[in-house]
Amino acid sequence: MAHDLDLYYTTCLALVEQASEVIVKAFSKAKKVETKSSDIDLVTETDKEVEDLLINGLKKAFPSHKFIGEESVSGGEKCVLGDDPTWIIDPVDGTMNFVHTFPLIAISIGLLIEKKPVIGVICNPVLGQSYTARLGQGAFLNGKPIKVSGQTELSKALLCTEFGTSTDIEKREVVLKNLTTFLARCHGVRGIGTCCCAMTMVASGAVDAFCHLGMHCWDMAAGQLIIEEAGGFLCDYGGGPFDLMSRRIVCAGSEKLAKEIAGLLEQFELERD
Ligand code: IPD
Repeated sequence: MAHDLDLYYTTCLALVEQASEVIVKAFSKAKKVETKSSDIDLVTETDKEVEDLLINGLKKAFPSHKFIGEESVSGGEKCVLGDDPTWIIDPVDGTMNFVHTFPLIAISIGLLIEKKPVIGVICNPVLGQSYTARLGQGAFLNGKPIKVSGQTELSKALLCTEFGTSTDIEKREVVLKNLTTFLARCHGVRGIGTCCCAMTMVASGAVDAFCHLGMHCWDMAAGQLIIEEAGGFLCDYGGGPFDLMSRRIVCAGSEKLAKEIAGLLEQFELERD
């Protein structure tokens, strides 16, 4: 079947614009917060409202398409990635940041067809930053081309990682051990509370690499394409091929740096999406 990718893209951007308005309006107000898998895994009414807006809008435009949305999956829907066009959505990545009015948050939408990413949009409505990519057409920030740093030396790299929303002590120990490993070997390590924004920072060269354990496909689907189109490299936490459903990632401005980081990481197994 022929796909009208331009239509998919413009429809997605128009909906992201509407969703951005919802987030900006809610950002500084008091939020109704609920917990999910742990006391630090949060959801607000805005996460749900934005996900409904995006999924309903895309469903109306493209009734045969499939959807994986963070809050729908939390609500019990299956997380299945098949060959049909599938929109993978995180309505508010960095919900903890959003709750605290820490301004790094993102709407993330990736479209995959036959399991391959073809459209990626990560928008931070609070800072007015919209990162976009389409397969084979480059990556952009507010319409201007971006590229990765190309850094190959770990000793000169600025890294990003996350501490995650799991309270599993064993996992935390691995995360902290890995943090210590890198603090001793690179320029610095940052944790900003949103995988999607961290991935856009790799894509634009603001950081040289990002690694994380325990996020989900909706945290990585759009970022994968944006990084690839910006010239970056992604692999598994253990250095093997990148797998969107594995909940593990290393991405960097060069293959050499990504592989070196993966080679130093202590491993931890997780249930797949
Ligand atoms: C979370 C953020 C966080 C990461 C978690 C994610 P959410 O997404 O990306 O940085 O550490 O693993 O689940 O829940 O804020 O959309």
